[in-house]
Amino acid sequence: MSDYVLGTHDAELARLGLQHELWRPAAQAAWRRAGLGPGQRVLELGAGPGLAALELARAVGPEGRVLGLELSAAYVAAGQALAEREGLGQLELRRHDLLADPLPAEGFDLIWCRWVAMFLPELDGVLDQLAPALRPGGRVVFHEYLHWDTFGLHPHGTAIRRFGQAAQRSFRDAGGDPNVNRHLPSLLAQRGFQINELRPLPVLGQAGSMAAQWMESFVVVYGPQLQRLGLWSAADAAQATAEIAQAQRDAGSYWVGPTLLELRATK
Ligand SMILES: C[S@@+](CC[C@H](N)C(=O)[O-])C[C@H]1O[C@@H](n2cnc3c(N)ncnc32)[C@H](O)[C@@H]1O
Repeated sequence: MSDYVLGTHDAELARLGLQHELWRPAAQAAWRRAGLGPGQRVLELGAGPGLAALELARAVGPEGRVLGLELSAAYVAAGQALAEREGLGQLELRRHDLLADPLPAEGFDLIWCRWVAMFLPELDGVLDQLAPALRPGGRVVFHEYLHWDTFGLHPHGTAIRRFGQAAQRSFRDAGGDPNVNRHLPSLLAQRGFQINELRPLPVLGQAGSMAAQWMESFVVVYGPQLQRLGLWSAADAAQATAEIAQAQRDAGSYWVGPTLLELRATK
């Protein structure tokens, strides 16, 4: 696999940082519910530049181990440099294609995966390898979307609504499924996993909130790619910019994000 649809350029790297800040409390709560603690071994699928992996590494401490697998060599290098700078020898980021390379079977306590399954055109291969990679009683936690159609800016976001549709279309055209978490629980149950948690995680924010900034940045950073794909136009972008400005002047305006689902399951 070569061209991941969101890209790995600097603006996307910054957007992932903002996204991680917003969603960090939800991730940490999920890890707590999954019993994460010192000394454990964690595998992260599609770790990006290692933003969550760094925190997982702090949580497991020097006696633990975190292995983050990631397609982009640039993200692996960025995350590995951060790990070294922070003296987190328990963290390893490794270049890996989830569609081609075998998952290491190291008896992990936890497998964490966020916003990655939605981009994979084929899920069976990686899902088949989850149980062999875990110790008996090991857990998987996925934060993937359940309902992308909730993405919107109210009440002004007509172009923003079209943007949400275009973004979903781009994910589907690249072989992914924006609402992949409609399927993952059933696919895990078929593989013998016990389903422990299905928790919807909605997000909503008025202008100026971190949630609003996250969604505005998505429109700004991903808009040019949607234009290159022919799914969005310069006129659409201009209208979206005007709607965002209008919302910033209206204290009653608010963004709603695509709805995430926390899925936790045990081998
Ligand atoms: C939206 S980012 C999420 C990054 C990270 N999981 C986080 O929560 O910040 C999606 C990541 O999945 C990675 N990815 C996409 N396809 C992949 C594949 N086939 N194998 C490994 N990583 C992949 C991308 O390179 C990108 O870093």
